[in-house]
Amino acid sequence: MMERQPEPEAMDLEEEAAAYAAADFADVNEAFVERLVTLAGPADRALALDLGTGPGDIPLRLWRRRGGWKIVAGDVSRAMLDLARAAIGAAGAAGAVWPVEQDAKSAPFRSGAFDVVFSNSILHHITDTGRLWGEVARVSKRGTLIFLRDLARPNSAGSAMAIVKKYAGTESALLQEEYYRSLLSAYTVAEVRAQLVDAGLDGLGVEMVTDRHLDVFGRVDG
Ligand SMILES: C[S@@+](CC[C@H](N)C(=O)[O-])C[C@H]1O[C@@H](n2cnc3c(N)ncnc32)[C@H](O)[C@@H]1O
Repeated sequence: MMERQPEPEAMDLEEEAAAYAAADFADVNEAFVERLVTLAGPADRALALDLGTGPGDIPLRLWRRRGGWKIVAGDVSRAMLDLARAAIGAAGAAGAVWPVEQDAKSAPFRSGAFDVVFSNSILHHITDTGRLWGEVARVSKRGTLIFLRDLARPNSAGSAMAIVKKYAGTESALLQEEYYRSLLSAYTVAEVRAQLVDAGLDGLGVEMVTDRHLDVFGRVDG
């Protein structure tokens, strides 16, 4: 198995944030929201937290499906939050989706505050995963739904390159390079399971859901 090669946490270069926001993630983001609302069931009111919201596309898609939810959209990158704020304003969602500058490893929220904690594609940015999972556990309460999806690290650099060509072959060179680095910085299912055990969140499930993504999902039972 190839060693993890960590990439920087925040995507705070304007150019990097703009390239990410300009890429077409509609299908993968919609698939994420579909699984989230399926896991959540019919709850029409909830306070949800998105860790590493990026340009805010996922909370906006979620808000269109669950208009009664309030969603805190956190990110450590100002460049990303500026894009998220603009998208939220343009969508008319400012009353329901709230952008917050926030490090997911030290979230400024009270313990047990959230009914739902979700995140797409943040875990591979984080090296101190103990602090991240610790915060996920702290802001959750009994019954909170947790759903994180991320890349899973391929076996070799060659496999990572093949994934980049297959799924991002028509994207900009910058985006392809970032995708490659993200794959090398991702965790395996076994590594994530070990992280959850350390955080006392071992009641959550971890599974591969595509050839390059893993899901962490379930309700807090503590
Ligand atoms: C690959 S992007 C994913 C954005 C969004 N979740 C999506 O799927 O479109 C990862 C995001 O996580 C943010 N991020 C990385 N480390 C973070 C941290 N410690 N706390 C909060 N956000 C973080 C980055 O700034 C970036 O916006």
